[in-house]
Amino acid sequence: MGERTNRAFRLRQRPEGALADGDLELVSEEVPELRDGQALVRNKLLSLDPTNRIWMSDIRGYMPPVPIDAVMRGLGIGEVVESRRDDMPLGATVNGFVGWQELCLADDSQLEAPLTVLPDPLPGPESAFLGALGHTGVTAYIGIDLAEVSDGDTIVVSAACGAVGSVAGQIAKQRGARVVGIAGGPEKCEHAVSVLGFDACVDHRTGDWRDQLDRATPDGIDVDFENVGGPIMDHVLGRLNIGARISLCGMIAEYNTYNEGGEHAGALTNIGQLIMQRATIKGFLVLDFGHRFGEAIEYLGGLLAEGRLHYDETIVDGGIEAAPDALAELFDGRNMGKLLVRVAE
Ligand SMILES: NC(=O)c1ccc[n+]([C@@H]2O[C@H](COP(=O)([O-])OP(=O)(O)OC[C@H]3O[C@@H](n4cnc5c(N)ncnc54)[C@H](OP(=O)(O)O)[C@@H]3O)[C@@H](O)[C@H]2O)c1
Repeated sequence: MGERTNRAFRLRQRPEGALADGDLELVSEEVPELRDGQALVRNKLLSLDPTNRIWMSDIRGYMPPVPIDAVMRGLGIGEVVESRRDDMPLGATVNGFVGWQELCLADDSQLEAPLTVLPDPLPGPESAFLGALGHTGVTAYIGIDLAEVSDGDTIVVSAACGAVGSVAGQIAKQRGARVVGIAGGPEKCEHAVSVLGFDACVDHRTGDWRDQLDRATPDGIDVDFENVGGPIMDHVLGRLNIGARISLCGMIAEYNTYNEGGEHAGALTNIGQLIMQRATIKGFLVLDFGHRFGEAIEYLGGLLAEGRLHYDETIVDGGIEAAPDALAELFDGRNMGKLLVRVAE
C-alpha cells in the first residue's frame, strides 16, 4: 500500500445480533492532497468500546447511528503525519474520533467532535489515555461521584475487570466502600480481589451466582455501578437497601439485540424495588462531562503515581483488520481491562 492509501472499515449493513461477516467491509482508498485547515493522522491505537455496537444500530441513541457506507466510528490515538493546520503540528499525538481506519483526515468536518492534541511529552503511556486516564477512567470517576459513594457503603460493580468497572471499584475502595465485583470466570474474580483490591467477586458464569452474590452482600446493596443490565442488574435490584443509588453506566447484555423492532434481552422484573426502597437510578454519559475531564484525570493520575490505581489493558496486534474480531471480545468477555487494537507502531 502506498503512503497515502487508507484502509478503512465501512459499515455496509446493520448487524442482526452480533457483528458478522459482511456487516463491515475493509476498503482501500487514496487520501487526497491536503488543503489548508487539514491534517493527516496515522492511527496508532484504536479503542474498542461496547458502544461501537450501539452505533451500528438504527435506534434512538445518544449519537446518530453510523450511516450505511460510512467509515465506522471509533475512538483512538494517532500521530499527525502531515499538516496544514497551525493547531495540529507534525508529530503531535492526538486522540478522539479517529474512526476504524489507518489514516484520519482531521478538518472542519469534525467540528462537533474535534480531535484533541495531547500534551508533549505525555505524562503516561499513550494507551492509558484511552483507558484509565481516558474516557473509560473518567466514566468510572463520574459514575462513582454521581452515586455519592461513601465510607461504609456496599457497592456492586458489574463487568468488574473491564475498563470502566476495574477503575470504578478501585475509586469506590478509596472512598471507603465495601466493593463486590461481578465478573466472568475464576481468573477474573481472583484478579478483582487480589490485584484490584475488591472485597469479593462473584463469577456470573457459575450456576449459583445469585446465591454467591447474596452471601457477598449480607447487609444488602447501597450502590450499584451497573455496566451489564439483564439478569445481573435484575438480581442486584432485588437486594437494594433503602435510599440506594444506581449509576446506570451501561447495559452491554442488551447491545447485540438493539435491532429495529427487535426484542431487548433485559426485562427487569425487580424494577419496582426502586419504589419500595426509595432508590434513585441515574443514567449518565461521559460525553456530557467534558468540563470534568481535567479534574478526573488529575485525580486518577495522582492515584496512579502513588501506586494506588492498577489498570489492565488487552492490546490486540494485527492492524486495523483485527478490529471486528476484537469487538467480539467485549461481548464474550475475553478482554481484561481496556481493549485496544494496535493499528500501527
Ligand atoms: N455511560 C458512559 O458514558 C459509558 C462510557 C464507557 C462505557 N460505558 C459502558 O460501560 C460498560 C463497560 O464498558 P467497558 O468499555 O469498560 O467494557 P469492558 O467492561 O472492558 O468489557 C465488557 C465486559 O462486559 C462483560 N460482559 C459482556 N457481556 C456480558 C453479559 N451478557 N453478562 C455479563 N457480563 C458481560 C464482559 O466481562 P465478563 O468476562 O466479566 O463477563 C466483558 O469483558 C458497557 O456497558 C459500556 O457501554 C458507558
